[in-house]
Amino acid sequence: MAQKEIHEILDDKLAEVRKNASADKLFLYNGGLYPTMICCPETLKILDTFKARSDDVVLVAYPKTGDNWVGQILTELEVASGKYDEEERKRRQKNEKELALFPYLEFGDPEKFERLEKLPSRRIIKTHLRIQNIPKSVFQQKAKILVLLRNPKDTAVSYFHFAKGMNLTSSQKTWDEFFTDFINGEVPYGFYFDHIIEWNKYLDDKNVMFITYEEIKEDPVLGLKRIAEFFDFSVTDQDIQSIAEKTSFKAMKDRAPKTHGKVGETLFRKGLVGDWKNVFSEGQSEEMDKKFEEHAASTKLGKMLKYEVYCKN
Ligand code: A3P
Repeated sequence: MAQKEIHEILDDKLAEVRKNASADKLFLYNGGLYPTMICCPETLKILDTFKARSDDVVLVAYPKTGDNWVGQILTELEVASGKYDEEERKRRQKNEKELALFPYLEFGDPEKFERLEKLPSRRIIKTHLRIQNIPKSVFQQKAKILVLLRNPKDTAVSYFHFAKGMNLTSSQKTWDEFFTDFINGEVPYGFYFDHIIEWNKYLDDKNVMFITYEEIKEDPVLGLKRIAEFFDFSVTDQDIQSIAEKTSFKAMKDRAPKTHGKVGETLFRKGLVGDWKNVFSEGQSEEMDKKFEEHAASTKLGKMLKYEVYCKN
């Protein structure tokens, strides 16, 4: 039987969860919640067997901060930098398809770590994992890590719509219910501000770079240049310009039926900064402000979020 594309496998899984409304959609592993649809304890248990390479391109992002977008930017930069001809590009695509690798480190079957070794360099490795769960060899090999952040209010709204569209929780939650879960960290990958507090300790690590969704949105060319420089991708200004166009929200949304199947309908929703204003009540907004103040406002990384600009009316 022909190997399915990843988006076809995801479509099948989505149909399965939608059919089986009452099944457990989340499971607890080492104190963290994970979606049953795509993760399993066996894979999480052997995460540390993952062998990183020093030239791996690692993207770490809390869910809904825009990692499909930035992941695509990284893929395009890698291809442009590798100067592959069409034949080599096709060969690599075929190889990836045959390896049936889910695009996130913690997703899929446990055997994936062996298959990942068959991928040629430079590999793009994406994950939502908390720092303490990221395989140690990523740090030992000094692979470069890009940490993506997004303002917490838009992240929460995007997460709500995604959870709803993907039937991520056992009972369909209202926005108010989801907001309470989000603010208490009772969602897959936990409390968003914990990621900020933890990564704040890596501010001076030269192998780690931080970027925000808002920053790339405001000036994609500049954002892409920063990313390219950090990973030493050898690309021209023209490459950057064309990748910025190819990875615009509209371009990616238009291609979504092919690249992401049905999942794409939920994934490429609005792609805006400030949509939270249409959803948050005044009370919820104040509650988030308070949490931010308590947990992240005083950290350098928290300041990088420009909370006053993006999260205040
Ligand atoms: P919204 O739900 O606010 O529209 P992730 O990839 O981490 O799941 O994040 C999904 C969010 O990124 C969604 O936000 C989605 O619309 C947005 N997004 C996806 N592709 C994008 C792009 N090319 N440009 C801007 N935003 C994008």
